Amino acid sequence: MSGRAINAVKGMNDILPGDVERWRALEATLRDVWRAHGYREVRTPIVEPTPLFVRGIGEGTDIVDKEMYSFVFHDEPMTLRPEGTAGAARAYIEHGIHAKEPVTRWCYEGPMFRGERPARGRYRQFHQHGCEVFGDAGPLVDAEMIDMLVGMLRRLHVDDVQVLVNTLGGPGTRDRYRQRLVAHFEPNKDRLSDDSKRRLTTNPLRILDSKHDRDQEAIASAPSVLDVIDDDDRKHFDGLRAHLDRLGVPYKVDPRLVRGLDYYTRTVFELRGSGGELGAQNALFGGGRYDGLIEELGGPPTPAIGFALGVERILLATTAEKPFVEPPVFVAPIGERAAGEALVIARELRGLGIVTVVEGRGGSLKSMLRRANALESKIAIVLGDAELDRGAVQLKDLAAHQQRDVPRTDLSREIAAALASKVNA
Ligand code: HAM
Repeated sequence: MSGRAINAVKGMNDILPGDVERWRALEATLRDVWRAHGYREVRTPIVEPTPLFVRGIGEGTDIVDKEMYSFVFHDEPMTLRPEGTAGAARAYIEHGIHAKEPVTRWCYEGPMFRGERPARGRYRQFHQHGCEVFGDAGPLVDAEMIDMLVGMLRRLHVDDVQVLVNTLGGPGTRDRYRQRLVAHFEPNKDRLSDDSKRRLTTNPLRILDSKHDRDQEAIASAPSVLDVIDDDDRKHFDGLRAHLDRLGVPYKVDPRLVRGLDYYTRTVFELRGSGGELGAQNALFGGGRYDGLIEELGGPPTPAIGFALGVERILLATTAEKPFVEPPVFVAPIGERAAGEALVIARELRGLGIVTVVEGRGGSLKSMLRRANALESKIAIVLGDAELDRGAVQLKDLAAHQQRDVPRTDLSREIAAALASKVNA
């Protein structure tokens, strides 16, 4: 007797050999980046008590209202984790980690579950890598995290990325903003979608990330949080922006960016892609600060920030054919004196985690640049006696066929910024 074939649950996918190799290559790179930034891996259960997510992510969010795989087992309500932050926060509190170390940097990876409508890049079982920092109020660490992610995408050949940042402020700013939003939406509430009408009383901030056509006009004219932000929150946001500017990370302030989870305070960010086969599900990473969550879940007041990325989306977005070999910065010295300096430059860049090769065989500039192209280098540094005498080098953008003089003392910073701008071009 032959039975009817049984397929996988809708929105949950097999990953077959061949694809698994791509996953492994990507994950090895991700782990390498987290390790280099001082994150240590934590593994928490896939199932958590349902109230953890209801309290952490918040009632009135899509995740809690509509998407959780919840069930009762022996009278205990539990849920397949829809994300990793709430579980990490629970473990941080449960094991009294705050008393053992002043700042904690954790990373995690694994499957998450959300009952969303399946589409390309949107699944019901999907896979995240995430990092969380507990015990540091920022804004330095906020900028460092965003810079780490931009650098990582460069390494993964994910091009055409946009970095969006915003602040939601602390509790005072949020309360004021909530009132302003209610005042804005209330007079025209009959024109809003049913979901947004309901959220006007339960969770007005959520209206801002409604995808419903009927809501878009009212959302476009909604007040910005930056109109009501208090001095401390503004100082924090300005600090983040100054650090990002100093690091040369291009970003856009998007005052409508509120993110889909309720635990966020102050900094929020998203990295969106448009390259590769990524379709409408273009959010590659999302994250932000959640300074109130640890206390909300029964721990001591502890500032925190984190992000998570969707592995499936990164794989759709990358254009790398051979994942994930980072093209080196190519250093081309002309003459004996320059060769010595080239080695010093390369050591400096490698110290910053930038893959660098020095062309040691000499020859004409043209032949050296041919070798740079063969390595798919995007940037070359050219230096000869003339450059050494004026304390500078030539920085060549090999794709754009442009070059400029850069003072030797500014070189590392300029290179890091030039590489970051390649990701965000
Ligand atoms: P999230 O924005 O809900 O944030 O998810 C982070 C990333 O997970 C998204 O940018 C996307 O790449 C991926 N993702 C989310 N839902 C799906 C889906 N249905 N299918 C495929 N990929 C998906 C969080 O989860 C927060 N826990 C991030 C965080 C950590 N904030 C602070 N710390």
